[in-house]
Amino acid sequence: MKVTVVGAGNVGATCANVIAHKELANEVVLIDIKEGIAEGKSLDIWQTAPINLYDTRVIGSTNDYSKTAGSEVVVITSGLPRKPGMSRDDLIATNAGIVKSVTENIIKHSPNAIIIVVSNPLDVMTYCAYKTAGISSHKVFGMAGILDTARYRAFLAEALNCSPKDIQAVLMGGHGDTMVPLPRYTTVAGIPVTELIDKAKLDAIVDRTKKGGGELVNLMGTSAWYAPGAAAAQMVEAIVRDQKRIFPVCALLNGEYGLKNIYLGAPVKLGKNGIEEIIQLQLTADEQALVDDSAKHVKEVMDVLDNMQAVA
Ligand code: NAI
Ligand code: 2OP
Repeated sequence: MKVTVVGAGNVGATCANVIAHKELANEVVLIDIKEGIAEGKSLDIWQTAPINLYDTRVIGSTNDYSKTAGSEVVVITSGLPRKPGMSRDDLIATNAGIVKSVTENIIKHSPNAIIIVVSNPLDVMTYCAYKTAGISSHKVFGMAGILDTARYRAFLAEALNCSPKDIQAVLMGGHGDTMVPLPRYTTVAGIPVTELIDKAKLDAIVDRTKKGGGELVNLMGTSAWYAPGAAAAQMVEAIVRDQKRIFPVCALLNGEYGLKNIYLGAPVKLGKNGIEEIIQLQLTADEQALVDDSAKHVKEVMDVLDNMQAVA
């Protein structure tokens, strides 16, 4: 099993480190355009193997995609991160060019790979990779919902003074301030969260979750990496171990939730074939309206990408 992580920055290096540490592959290739950075970080990660006791080989490369050949799963993290005052959408022009060229290289050397996109703006970059790759949408999808629900679950665990392990949650919509955490589908050891916390507190947690990425950008001057890297690695794990796990994932919707030809967060089943099922929740009218509003926003940015490509 071979996994490639493109982009040896904060998220990519963290993701490669988690994949190696959990022995999710025999070989992890970390590739970046910046001379030496992927080789250096790979060597550093590999030197943790005798300490953390794993066998996975971690190999770095400066833009030599022949090293990635035959990868079963590829995680794309290359691109600019947000700075304070920027929205994820502000990154579209630069990151679309990067995601397009990276995807072309990946497909050339690993035509059967499953592609997980992390670069922002997430929903639109996933659409960009899908259009470029020309493979089934079940094999091209984006990481956002695991991260966003992790933030939501961590905030709830703090508020309830309980273990985050017991909190299960679903979230839909785009990876931005219009995302839709779903309290009706949030449980604590099987107990509906609405029975354990008052509405005002829950609303405040939902609001903090929606702005969770921005909170970290304001604290650190760049976007987060530990939770994003671990979240992408969890998707790799579900695929390489054929776990059939159900996660919120940015997937191409074609009729589900009344939406067509749009990449948006929805619960899916992840296994060795990538997305094996898109789960249909019975949303209330209010929940559907929030999802529709989020979809409208994502569609506007998808149109920007389509128009950019028409011009290019
Ligand atoms: P970073 O700046 O630390 O790393 C990005 C890396 O991409 C750099 O090392 C850079 O040299 C590399 N790169 C640029 N162009 C490349 C190319 N053509 N080929 C290969 N590598 C290239 O950024 P960080 O923090 O790792 O974030 C990466 C991306 O992930 C950003 O777009 C960020 O907004 C996004 N992100 C998405 C999240 C999500 O939930 N989907 C969460 C966190 C970050
Ligand atoms: C995050 O949510 C900025 O998408 C990045 O941390």
